[in-house]
Amino acid sequence: MENKHEPIELKIAPGGIAVLWMSHPPVNTLNQELRDALFSNLQSLEKDKNVQAIILTAKNNMFSAGADIKEFQSGFKGASLEDIQNALEQSKKITIAAIHKAALGGGLEIALACHYRVADPIATFTLPEVTLGIIPGAGGTQRLPRLIGIQKALEMIVSGRPLSAKKGKEYGLIDELFKDRLIENAIEFATKLLKKAKSAIRKTCDMNVKLKNQSVQSLEKGIQNEVNKIARKVGFIAPKSCVESVLNTIDLSFKDGIAHERDLFFKAVLSAESQALQHVFFSQRKACKPIDINYGNTASFHHVGIVGGGLMGGGIAMTVINAGIPVTLIETSEEKLEKSFANIKKNYEISVKNGRFTSKEVVERLSMINGSVDFGDLRYCDLVIEAVYEDIELKKAIFQKLNTVCAPNTILASNTSGLDINELAKEVDRKEKVLGLHFFSPANVTKLLEVVKTDKTSDHVINTVLAFAKAIKKNAVVVGVCPGFVGNRMIFKYVDRAYELALKGIKPHLVDEVIQGFGFPMGPFAMMDLTGLDLGWKNTLEADDLRDVMCMHDRLGQKNGKGFYDYKDHRKGVPSDEANQLIQEFARIKQIEPCQFDDSQVQTQLLLALINEGFKILEEGIVKRPSDIDVIYVYGYGWPAYKGGPMYYAQKLGLHKVLEQLSELKDKHGDFWTPAPLLEHLVETKMRLKDWVMDHSRN
Ligand code: 3HC
Repeated sequence: MENKHEPIELKIAPGGIAVLWMSHPPVNTLNQELRDALFSNLQSLEKDKNVQAIILTAKNNMFSAGADIKEFQSGFKGASLEDIQNALEQSKKITIAAIHKAALGGGLEIALACHYRVADPIATFTLPEVTLGIIPGAGGTQRLPRLIGIQKALEMIVSGRPLSAKKGKEYGLIDELFKDRLIENAIEFATKLLKKAKSAIRKTCDMNVKLKNQSVQSLEKGIQNEVNKIARKVGFIAPKSCVESVLNTIDLSFKDGIAHERDLFFKAVLSAESQALQHVFFSQRKACKPIDINYGNTASFHHVGIVGGGLMGGGIAMTVINAGIPVTLIETSEEKLEKSFANIKKNYEISVKNGRFTSKEVVERLSMINGSVDFGDLRYCDLVIEAVYEDIELKKAIFQKLNTVCAPNTILASNTSGLDINELAKEVDRKEKVLGLHFFSPANVTKLLEVVKTDKTSDHVINTVLAFAKAIKKNAVVVGVCPGFVGNRMIFKYVDRAYELALKGIKPHLVDEVIQGFGFPMGPFAMMDLTGLDLGWKNTLEADDLRDVMCMHDRLGQKNGKGFYDYKDHRKGVPSDEANQLIQEFARIKQIEPCQFDDSQVQTQLLLALINEGFKILEEGIVKRPSDIDVIYVYGYGWPAYKGGPMYYAQKLGLHKVLEQLSELKDKHGDFWTPAPLLEHLVETKMRLKDWVMDHSRN
């Protein structure tokens, strides 16, 4: 007979110390089953005269990932987090949370309601609700400021960033850190508290919020930058609601503060931003699921080789060693290796300055990378990533070499941003072990990784590489081979339309401003300048498009201080008279008539250029699901996450409306705007994108 899994396990230690283990794999989300079980156990323990103290802890790989986000849609039933918190906080027994690995969201909030908190020193504490477009809704905005002060609570809640155990102890969030034997030490901690003459019960809700000579205005001003950074230019309400709720601790009683927090929470949960962010959360996890369920994401990597130590190769090397995996970096000469190592060191120095790493950590990381000019040094690698410049013949020659020097089970990957990887696979015997790993610059920062499956790549290899992506903390999406894969193929269309708009008289900085107004961190022209206009440019005598025009006039982008913008002060571009004149002149040669477009027309054209190509990509089966495209755009191209990604946006806009707008554009401005057949089909059959995937995808 199958054993029923119990969400709570209870043991009573000598001295009447009850230990409650939450057990809801994989990450102890506080769903109804767990909440009900926890609440009923707390009620029984409260009545049990032999119990003197209650330690709340958890099994599985962390304390708790917080509320179950799926219940935001289905509604919360059964015991609430508030019921549990009241049971813990108002208990006549001493309550202690013993936290390992991580406490997030509602998980941390129930710990805040305990009288004490102890943790292991590698644990982290996060209120990440803002990243889901909501605010902490189980007392987090009211209890955290009472424990660590308003300013620090604002920083944590508005940014959604984790706090380390060390800082947690320093700030007063954590009472004790125990390196080993967390539960045994927590029991000892409880025993000592019980021996205190005076009652050791300490309720967070009764604590006063200390204002250290800070005015409300100064606190608001102090957090404004963070709010702006998260909200970008548009009306994303969650960070502002977080500030409002935390500041309520100054004037409102705990009870009123909680009531107000609840109102703000439920308003936020229903907001369009939060719906979009929840979509992104689940889509990202879906995208990197193993494609063969018989083989999970569990492979381990002992050594990775990288061929080419330029900007991309160096960034990839940093990403891999940051995950604790040793790297061998191959270059063509000792001088090039030296240059490559110097760049890597320089990047790490910046990270030390930013406080991201300590100097000691950097030394440790650098010791994990060795350089070589001998391909033979790659023979023991589990995976080799080729990251040389975009020249198919050069890449083919490298793959031939790798085929001879690497062990037969080594996986061979190319970091090409759009070349035909099927062609590279033809150069080797192990065709099933060849694939693309398209990192995005700067590779050590950008979260996205396109995992490109060729016609021959085996599912086993894809799953192995998905495990690698998880280990190096990248958000992987499996895509098929086509020019530019998914992200770049769509961006080509978007940039093409941006050029067209500029040729029709809308200045580059105005186009960029419109798209920034939508929530992108930068517009298409600034992006092209940042990437480098000459990247992959074939020196021609006649210009085909505006990129050719700029390159032919030595305007290569940020790298040489002039592109679509002028860069007097390194990165900050100002509109360029020369670039604008060149654009006008080119429009005259091409006999393109100026046109009047308002901001909304500019925005519509740029977004529809992306969306229409997205439908074509879907129809060709280059990705499995529409949401994969959303993940690519949010994590690789700066699409505002609270607008869910291009395909999500299209569905929200209404597919019939998207089709109508494209048809209108086609009538006025030509065949570029021909609607994708899939879009027409969906509108005709009144089918939602989601349902089409269920019926027709490769799954
Ligand atoms: N709700 C629902 N499902 C969740 C979840 C949550 N809070 N957290 C994780 N999951 C699911 C994932 O979807 C995934 O499911 P799947 O296997 O079916 O795809 C599974 O748990 C494992 O998650 P990951 O693959 O992400 O596992 P990792 O080990 O890589 O990461 C984690 C673990 C750091 C906890 C990460 O999952 C995470 O960041 N989760 C979200 C945490 C969060 O945002 N918590 C706040 C929730 S809102 C809240 O608490 C409101 C409160 O204030 C009232």
